[in-house]
Amino acid sequence: MQPFDFHLRTRVLFGEGSVERLGQTAAFLGFTRTLLVADEGLIAAGHVERARRILHQHRIDAILFHDFEANPDTAMVEAGRAFAEHLAVDSIVALGGGSSMDCAKGINFLLTNGGRMQDYWGYGKAARPMLPMIGIPATAGTGSEAQSYALISDAETHVKMACGDPKASFQVAILDPDVAASAPAAVRAAAGYDALSHAVEAFVTTRRNPVSDLYARAAFRLLDANFESGATGAMQLGAHYAGIAIEHSMLGAAHACANPLTARYGTTHGHAIAVLLPHVTSWNEAAAGRRYRELSDGLPARLADLRLAAGLPSTLRDLGVPREDLDGLAEAASHQWTGKFNPRPFDRTGAREVYECAY
Ligand SMILES: [Fe+2]
Repeated sequence: MQPFDFHLRTRVLFGEGSVERLGQTAAFLGFTRTLLVADEGLIAAGHVERARRILHQHRIDAILFHDFEANPDTAMVEAGRAFAEHLAVDSIVALGGGSSMDCAKGINFLLTNGGRMQDYWGYGKAARPMLPMIGIPATAGTGSEAQSYALISDAETHVKMACGDPKASFQVAILDPDVAASAPAAVRAAAGYDALSHAVEAFVTTRRNPVSDLYARAAFRLLDANFESGATGAMQLGAHYAGIAIEHSMLGAAHACANPLTARYGTTHGHAIAVLLPHVTSWNEAAAGRRYRELSDGLPARLADLRLAAGLPSTLRDLGVPREDLDGLAEAASHQWTGKFNPRPFDRTGAREVYECAY
């Protein structure tokens, strides 16, 4: 069998009401003054106040940073660093969707290791220790709480940079279905489909190993069975498993083709993925068809059915992409790092074929 190196860095607390364990967990890790990175939606839903109260009960000060948006970019992370650098925080709590998780990791890189976000593009470039972090995901989607990568867009070029380091992992992830249940239905559908795509892509990459396969397979089972009913706990756990699979196996052509859509048109990541994934699985048939059938008979059709059931967009035209942009998009997709791990060698011509099918 093939050799591998597998290390789980994140302790997981799962269950309804588990967010109430935030205080004791943070105290156990030695938090006394923490930067609470949370998006606006979480403030409105009351989760930020609740987290603050729980932390205060354990004599932990929480200072809120929320000045960022979906798909955080280098300017937002810089703003976070500027906000936090004189606060003398000893830790970070991230509360929200993937954007909160990414933003927290990005701020952590800059606060502890200095420089610019671009300096950490790639893997293992942080020389100094980083602040301990707890992640509380409020959507069942990116699985970012299971990963050591921060996805941050360059504010000028809009290129999405994957900046990873083992020290950027969360010490603890708290998966509380009560927290994720407050996400709006449209957000849940897009995030859930993204999670499904993580399981599907991670299961067939050239980097996969026997342990990433276990997580990708288990993730697919949970997500496929619960996507339509939207059972929050199962979707959260599925998204988390898929996140672990990505950490070790990476992703493929659906993400390579999706990223340029978000960079150019601001397309919601899950919508771009919904349009592309069924076509990518068809396009990969010769290289990965046997593997896909381990997940589901007729996987491309199953993925298209789930997309339809959730009311997600199904064509590039639905997303408002002009046909004359396809060449430029294919060029951008061919430079995406994640395309390198696709089971069928993926290049500009392949990207153009996928976009054409998805139009
Ligand atoms: Fe994704």
